[in-house]
Amino acid sequence: MNRISILEKPLILQNGITIKNRFFKSAMSEALGSKSHQPTASLITLYRTWAEGGVGLSVTGNVMIDSQALGEPGNVVVEDERDLDMLKNWAKAGTENETQLWMQINHPGKQSPKMISNEPVAPSSIPLTGKLQNFFNTPRALTEEEIKDLIKRFGNSARIAKKAGFTGVQIHAAHGYLINQFLSPYHNQRNDQWGGPLENRMRFVLEVYHEIREQVGDAFPIGIKLNSADFQRGGFTEEESMEVVKKLSEVGIDLIEISGGNYEQPAMMGSSKKESTKKREAYFLHYAEKVRTLINTPLVVTGGFRTVSAMNEAIECGAVDMIGIARPFTLIPDLPNKVFNGTYEPLQDKPIKTGLSLIDNNLPIIEMGWYGQQLKRMGQGKAPKPNLSPWSTLLHVLTSQGKYAFQKKRGL
Ligand SMILES: Cc1cc2nc3c(=O)[nH]c(=O)nc-3n(C[C@H](O)[C@H](O)[C@H](O)COP(=O)(O)O)c2cc1C
Repeated sequence: MNRISILEKPLILQNGITIKNRFFKSAMSEALGSKSHQPTASLITLYRTWAEGGVGLSVTGNVMIDSQALGEPGNVVVEDERDLDMLKNWAKAGTENETQLWMQINHPGKQSPKMISNEPVAPSSIPLTGKLQNFFNTPRALTEEEIKDLIKRFGNSARIAKKAGFTGVQIHAAHGYLINQFLSPYHNQRNDQWGGPLENRMRFVLEVYHEIREQVGDAFPIGIKLNSADFQRGGFTEEESMEVVKKLSEVGIDLIEISGGNYEQPAMMGSSKKESTKKREAYFLHYAEKVRTLINTPLVVTGGFRTVSAMNEAIECGAVDMIGIARPFTLIPDLPNKVFNGTYEPLQDKPIKTGLSLIDNNLPIIEMGWYGQQLKRMGQGKAPKPNLSPWSTLLHVLTSQGKYAFQKKRGL
């Protein structure tokens, strides 16, 4: 098989669903929902653009399961069927060109900023550490009844996604959000059936999976994004992650995407200083190689992939089945087509910084905002702008978030 055709080869999931090639557009929170958290025309344009660009499986940015728990302004919330028509339009556009479109469903737990949440919820009342304490309130521990309600909500959102025409869902269990908080022995210090030994800490994610399966049936793909580790002292370790992967595979999950880190340790964005990680283009490939020996469930690794040779090698060596890519899709929306027709040139990742350490060190949000602005441009039907100034992002972040805080105060 030549170097390009391995990426063009379809992947067949255990339930018979075919993904037309090995390109997986990882979730990127678009922040393009309306003020009342409904899907918008911009989302439809954005996902149509990616579908036309040749990707095999496109995962939406995180969609929230509860309007009382948001990760950021502009999140879409799916908790009932009020926006079904708009969701159908989104699903239709994103599944054009035989593209799989899976909705990522999420609850932020304690990672819900102060301007949105006075009292976020989490497994235990443990605040985020360091500089983040300025931006996030200390969470309140969930009650047993609330935990059970949230499990039902994950199932309900997945059911609505299916009804709207999304072709799968992905459970967000990574990056320090609620499910990841339950898995972490640092963030989860409960002493009931939801905390303590790993068997208890993984109860939440397994119950979420079973509830979704119950509500969508066996033929509908359910994927998960899971941390290889939290890279945090006392956090969720690689060994524990492997135990969870084995269990998820055993109960029938259809696809596992590997990432790592959280807001406190953003390893998913390539922050690791480990030499072995820096040497390899994809941050979590080493972990995937180990997992591959444990399970047969299709695996995706996301984080760092930029060159065709690294993508080919990762699949050829058998470590992964699909190549997860996020940031490059904001600058090259038709990346798969370009790879297939031989015109793809990786763009050099350059740090997105204003150059003023006071701003750059305190606001990693600038980097996310910069990519967010590219998504917004695409949603408006404009071409990406790789030379966009970080100062324009700073202004954009300050005005949009300031406006949101003001609206919240006025109760709009
Ligand atoms: C603007 C932006 C928003 C993101 N939002 C999400 C999200 O909603 N859910 C998620 O699982 N990951 C999210 N991520 C992380 C990406 O899916 C991915 O794991 C990370 O960017 C590393 O992959 P890359 O090196 O290919 O960009 C986001 C990344 C960016 C840049």
